[in-house]
Amino acid sequence: MSKPIFVTQPHLPPLIEFQEYLKDIWESKWLTNNGPFHQELEQKLCEYLGLKYISLFSNGTLALITALQALKISGEVITTPFSFVATTHALWWNNIKPVFVDIKENDCNIDAEKIESAITPNTTAILPVHIYGNPCNVDRIQQIADTYGLHIIYDSAHAFGVTLQGNSIASFGNLSVLSFHATKVFTTFEGGAIICHDEKMKKRIDFLKNFGFADEITVVAPGINAKMNEFQAALGLLQLKYFAAAIKKRKRIVETYRNMLKKINGVRYFQDINDIKHNYAYFPIFIDQKKYGKSRDHVYNELKQNNIHCRRYFYPLISQFPTYRGLPSSKSKNLPVAEKITKEVLCLPIYPDLDLNVVYNVCEIIKKLKK
Ligand SMILES: Cc1ncc(COP(=O)(O)O)c(C=O)c1O
Repeated sequence: MSKPIFVTQPHLPPLIEFQEYLKDIWESKWLTNNGPFHQELEQKLCEYLGLKYISLFSNGTLALITALQALKISGEVITTPFSFVATTHALWWNNIKPVFVDIKENDCNIDAEKIESAITPNTTAILPVHIYGNPCNVDRIQQIADTYGLHIIYDSAHAFGVTLQGNSIASFGNLSVLSFHATKVFTTFEGGAIICHDEKMKKRIDFLKNFGFADEITVVAPGINAKMNEFQAALGLLQLKYFAAAIKKRKRIVETYRNMLKKINGVRYFQDINDIKHNYAYFPIFIDQKKYGKSRDHVYNELKQNNIHCRRYFYPLISQFPTYRGLPSSKSKNLPVAEKITKEVLCLPIYPDLDLNVVYNVCEIIKKLKK
């Protein structure tokens, strides 16, 4: 490849359309603090995703930290080690002890059947992640939360646009958090959101993201500055216009990868599942070194030599980072599946404008390496 190919690339609207929004911002001089585009985007996202209440944020990490504040979560929270590190950092920033539970091989999500044995008298909540946009076992997790009186906050950072039996995946749990980072299927440069189910909670979240201000002179909590600005919201409004078409293009890329990789022994990938509308945010493959004959890192390095820069999402596991590796739940014997998957996974390039010739090249390299 003469030009480097990265694992992702943002899908941007025509510049001229964004300039129209910029003109409005210049005219109104309303740059942030619940401006007109912020209000419009909250409303449009509710309509688009079929949700009742959404609060926009400057990024997904601050949305996660604020979601934990909004529910006053403390003590211990059960979560997955197989995610982007921000999931667990949000707990750390709230002085909450993370308790890692192993994942399932089929979808890389937290293994709901292993949650109960990790519950202690200090457990207050579960923080699962819909990893790669794969929906968690939401029914079973809800059942456990109901039985033990726990809250659920879903990290839905990867799952914008995903539906389960026709319902937005972001509608599950007490709160659900989205990320609109530049690497995500729906981006506002940086950005995020919390989805909640009633007006009181929406108000509380809105206060918390604005230093705790309830009105000009009343501060109800030690809130933070996590507001989305008008430039971000404007890009979000334009993203909505192009989202459905972008997902169609992603689907085509995924189908091409699946077609070309299907006969390679030792290379596994996800299939579509009935009842789920997928967003094709990532295309992870899992390389079984014994069957394939080469390691995941060998494939990663070979592709890199060819100017194709894949990512090993998620390697290392969060439980392997210095901050978390001393926790009792980080021990290898507690996380056998996650420790296997983290050595096998490789996310191949995928974005709406990815040239299919690149997909062919990537697959040819993976095929040739097997020989
Ligand atoms: C699973 C997950 N959670 C949280 C975040 C944090 O979101 P943000 O980058 O918008 O702060 C990300 C990625 O960016 C993520 O992938």
